[in-house]
Amino acid sequence: MVAVFRLAPPEAIEILDQTLLPFEEQVIRIADVAALCEAIGALRIRGAPLLGLAGAAGLALAASQNGPTDKDLSHAARVITATRPTAVDLGLRAGDALELALALPVDERAGALWAYAARLHGDRIREDAAISAFGADLLVERGSVLTHCNTGELATGGAGTALGVIVAAWKRGRVERCYVTETRPLLQGARLTAWEALRAGVPATLLPDTAAGSLLASGAVQAVITGADRIARNGDTANKIGTYQLAALARRHAVPFYVAAPLSTIDPNCPEGHHIPIEMRDGREVGGFGDHRWSPAGIEAYNPAFDVTPAELITAIVTEQGVIQPPFTAGIRRAQSERGEQ
Ligand code: MRU
Repeated sequence: MVAVFRLAPPEAIEILDQTLLPFEEQVIRIADVAALCEAIGALRIRGAPLLGLAGAAGLALAASQNGPTDKDLSHAARVITATRPTAVDLGLRAGDALELALALPVDERAGALWAYAARLHGDRIREDAAISAFGADLLVERGSVLTHCNTGELATGGAGTALGVIVAAWKRGRVERCYVTETRPLLQGARLTAWEALRAGVPATLLPDTAAGSLLASGAVQAVITGADRIARNGDTANKIGTYQLAALARRHAVPFYVAAPLSTIDPNCPEGHHIPIEMRDGREVGGFGDHRWSPAGIEAYNPAFDVTPAELITAIVTEQGVIQPPFTAGIRRAQSERGEQ
């Protein structure tokens, strides 16, 4: 596979255009902040951890291409962060990069920002490997898993979070089959996870989102595992729209529901899920796909990109530092203080 995300300092960031997958692997060169914001908004680049990398790299790009002054960089961090409000990593990494840059002389900023983005990419790869291994340890009995949206390399730039766990567990002989929801309306499951699972060699079955209840009731699934876009301090978790209903169904059928995410996805400033900003997207995404329309013009649509799964429905949260068990408020506090001490 061509690289999902590549830094090409000082001119550009190269990304695989995810809107064209699975049929076309096209790398696009992004050469300024406006182009990056367009790519993020259109979901050419997406997935919470990869958006974190994009946020950091966006500041590097801004310093090289748009200008390295305090004003230039503060503006860049603001517009990049505003592009998608739910995934905490985007604003977090853009903000960290800004802070780093503002502490330096103007002529040193671009170099330091490119180096920071490269370091973050390395961290991402190491953290994903750890998440995959800790998560695979949880799936002790051989069985099938259900996942939602896309959480593989396309979403992180590393091995992935939930999909990383599934691939690692499959390699250990613990996953028989991965059930993949199509993830309407933008089909991240049908287009991206289906593609990544097949390329990894994991036996995979695609289902309409509406078939999840029937699948769980059939007893075919032994665990549900998803990623996260922002986790509150009490464990409430925002993830792709449809995650909440999967967690509720999993509870109804006594199937464990796991969230896999780096610790950076836990927002220390967010006490509970109802504080998480939920991105509302264009209603036209519901009434068609690309140029193909199936709903009459003029119909209104409800199109939140994410929902919040209450902590009480989550069995455990898998991070690069280990597995956080309920009660999450205490577990998250402990994990964050251990991380601070590292
Ligand atoms: O709108 P998207 O495609 O960026 O949404 C992505 C998700 O919801 C993922 O599940 C989440 O970011 C976790 S990525 C490892």
